[in-house]
Amino acid sequence: METIKCIETRRSIRKFKTQQIPHELMQEIIGAAAYAPSWKNTQVTRYVVVEDAAIKSRIADEAVLGFEHNKGIINGAAALVVVTLVHGRSGFERDGSYTTSKEDRWEVFDTGLATQTFCLAAHDKGIGSVILGIFDENKVADILGVEEGQKVAALVAVGYADEAPDAPKRKSVDDLLKFV
Ligand SMILES: Cc1cc2nc3c(=O)[nH]c(=O)nc-3n(C[C@H](O)[C@H](O)[C@H](O)COP(=O)(O)O)c2cc1C
Repeated sequence: METIKCIETRRSIRKFKTQQIPHELMQEIIGAAAYAPSWKNTQVTRYVVVEDAAIKSRIADEAVLGFEHNKGIINGAAALVVVTLVHGRSGFERDGSYTTSKEDRWEVFDTGLATQTFCLAAHDKGIGSVILGIFDENKVADILGVEEGQKVAALVAVGYADEAPDAPKRKSVDDLLKFV
């Protein structure tokens, strides 16, 4: 798909068909997401694709901070992608000190870039997605047994779209941009 078209037509998808995503297709999407830029090419973003219905529904039941809306989305998704990051590399010097006043926030910036790249690649391959920010990161980490040294950065519900929502209104370029 042409890049601008892919950016403009990607929508957050919250209703999915039951059809599973083939592993080869998910591997292709992650392969594309791997090309996202990162701090000194540290590539700290990792992905756990939760297909197991019991684990998915445990996350939906126990780790969405009571936000029923997200519970429904997770239960209805073909899979839930748990995006994690390897803590302590992006934004850090070799001696463990922070490089800039943003301290460790560059690692979250990196996972944001990777997650959007993932969502665009998924859209290009015909897979719908929605990033979910309202969840309990420690609870998700406990349920999944996330590796020591990693943090849960975001959840992304994925599947074949069963809706075609209109784009929510965007701010005008005049509101967003200034030249100096
Ligand atoms: C950091 C972040 C957190 C989000 N959290 C949620 C969420 O918890 N639940 C949800 O339904 N959508 C969530 N969204 C999706 C936004 O609501 C959506 O991107 C926005 O309304 C624009 O719609 P579009 O993605 O279709 O362009 C989140 C998006 C981002 C980037």
